[in-house]
Amino acid sequence: MNTEGNDKLLNIESSLGDSEELILQFKSYQQRYTAAIKEVTTKLEILDDEFKSIHEYNPIHNIETRLKSPHSIMKKLEKYNLPRDLDSMSEIKDIAGVRVVCNYIEDIYTIADLLTTQVDITLEKKKDYIKNPKENGYRSLHLIITVPIFLSTGVESIPVEVQIRTIAMDFWASLEHSLRYKDPTDTTKDVIQRLTKCAEVIASVDKEMQDIHKSIHQG
Ligand code: GTP
Ligand code: MG
Repeated sequence: MNTEGNDKLLNIESSLGDSEELILQFKSYQQRYTAAIKEVTTKLEILDDEFKSIHEYNPIHNIETRLKSPHSIMKKLEKYNLPRDLDSMSEIKDIAGVRVVCNYIEDIYTIADLLTTQVDITLEKKKDYIKNPKENGYRSLHLIITVPIFLSTGVESIPVEVQIRTIAMDFWASLEHSLRYKDPTDTTKDVIQRLTKCAEVIASVDKEMQDIHKSIHQG
């Protein structure tokens, strides 16, 4: 997991001023989000293991996690015109991020349902970019959930952004992201159209693979 290092901490130090107290607060708040990532990851792994033991099949291909860097948090606070302080950080719901890459489209909804119906999980927000893909062709199921973490001082509810997608959707999103990152100002209309076309081809392959999987598992 990318938990960022000392230089990132120096970043927040310089962007927030030299308040030592603020840095200490930041460290403790960062630990809460790391704990939330662990809780959600464990829940997902348990579901995947159980699925395997019942159905002899793993719905999850892999799980990636990330903790938003202080620098990105600062950028987001600026984007939403929020004060650059620790209180405003509770407004940012994607500090803890978990990406679940599934084998098939139906696995996405199975995992989402099994996770969000757990008694200690609250679903705050859902965006289904699979049923309603973004204009550029981006597909994924996005959930903002809260999960309790148990600290010596008591229980706290921490938000986690969960992105669930297939291997094929992940393939497209990774490449589209790196292409856009390389050339953020000059992504021409032609490039956007070609990327959108790729997303559509990939989506139809996803559907076909799902059908093949079903015919083998149920047939
Ligand atoms: P932001 O986090 O500021 O983007 O807020 P939002 O509420 O508009 O987020 P949304 O749920 O639409 O997307 C959040 C995350 O999904 C992004 O940070 C990316 O990781 C991913 N994402 C969204 N759209 C795209 C896209 O077009 N391409 C790729 N590669 N990833 C995307
Ligand atoms: Mg985000």
